[in-house]
Amino acid sequence: MERKRGKKVTIIGAGNVGATVAYSLAMRGVCHEIMLRDRNSDISMGKALDMSQAANVARTHTIVKVAHEASDMKDSDVVVITAGSPRKPGMSRDDLLMINAEITKEVIQDVKTYAPDSIIIMVSNPLDVMTYVALKESGFPKERVIGMAGILDSARMAHFIFEKIGYGAGQIRASVMGGHGDSMVPLPKFSTVAGVPLTDVLTDEEIEEIVERTKHGGAEIVGYLKTGSAYYAPAKATALMVEAILKDTKQIHPCAVYLDGHYGYEDVVSGVPVALGANGVEKLFEMTLSEKQSKQFEHSVNTVKEMIDVLKKNKFFS
Ligand code: NAI
Ligand code: 2OP
Repeated sequence: MERKRGKKVTIIGAGNVGATVAYSLAMRGVCHEIMLRDRNSDISMGKALDMSQAANVARTHTIVKVAHEASDMKDSDVVVITAGSPRKPGMSRDDLLMINAEITKEVIQDVKTYAPDSIIIMVSNPLDVMTYVALKESGFPKERVIGMAGILDSARMAHFIFEKIGYGAGQIRASVMGGHGDSMVPLPKFSTVAGVPLTDVLTDEEIEEIVERTKHGGAEIVGYLKTGSAYYAPAKATALMVEAILKDTKQIHPCAVYLDGHYGYEDVVSGVPVALGANGVEKLFEMTLSEKQSKQFEHSVNTVKEMIDVLKKNKFFS
């Protein structure tokens, strides 16, 4: 009888976000084995040893190792891709398009070869387009290629709401859909403080301020860090997705997924609420949007489509 093996997660790109995802998973003992794969294997070795030792401190069973060969990712249940170049001050997410598309294409070939049954979580920017690239280049079913952004953007909005009102920490549920870029669509009307609609707590002007700050939440942190972009909240958001998949929780989160006629769009990736479980995207929810929200979502989707078109024009896809 074949013995059941433990859960395995490979993280490609062990920089700020990737390593922090690994640390977050290891501290909760979410999986048995984490493989770090990076161009720089010495740094990855150091991080893997350090994290395995931290797991002993935390008394979890997770072992963190380095994938020296692509074949070391074999049998991974989930592959997280953060490989790429981070955003620098003055650089838009879209500037990263061509550089990260090539990196994504390269690493997806390995995932396809060695972890063909895995679920891919994309993190590299521009997120929605990289998720599309991962989907097309892997040939995986659309349910198994998911981008992380909506959980992060919603958490940022929730934090900004808290900063504005000064109470309700941990009880604020904010909602953001659309692409992970300046055209993301924060949804104040779907946001609440312990069940109280946001619109009953703050004025229109205050809400507008929060919406604008959310759209530029990533850039605000880049402005302070100067040499890179945010990683604690992005990593925690990614780890939450990994955990929902490995534990088959069917939790509902906003994620970047392939739209195949959903919301009236096709052949594009955008952020919408989905239930995450052992099969990846278990269900996609179509919310009823107001005319204003629909227009904002359309603009956001079109921004992603334009970038996909740039790749198509450059004959990028295999
Ligand atoms: P980082 O520079 O700290 O890490 C990136 C790592 O990727 C580096 O260690 C680099 O050596 C590695 N790498 C590059 N090419 C590789 C390849 N072909 N194979 C294996 N490893 C490779 O950057 P950071 O801060 O970790 O960000 C990673 C990516 O995630 C960036 O594209 C960033 O814009 C994006 N990001 C996305 C977020 C989202 O909400 N979706 C949030 C935060 C970051
Ligand atoms: C962020 O929003 C850079 O996309 C990254 O922090």
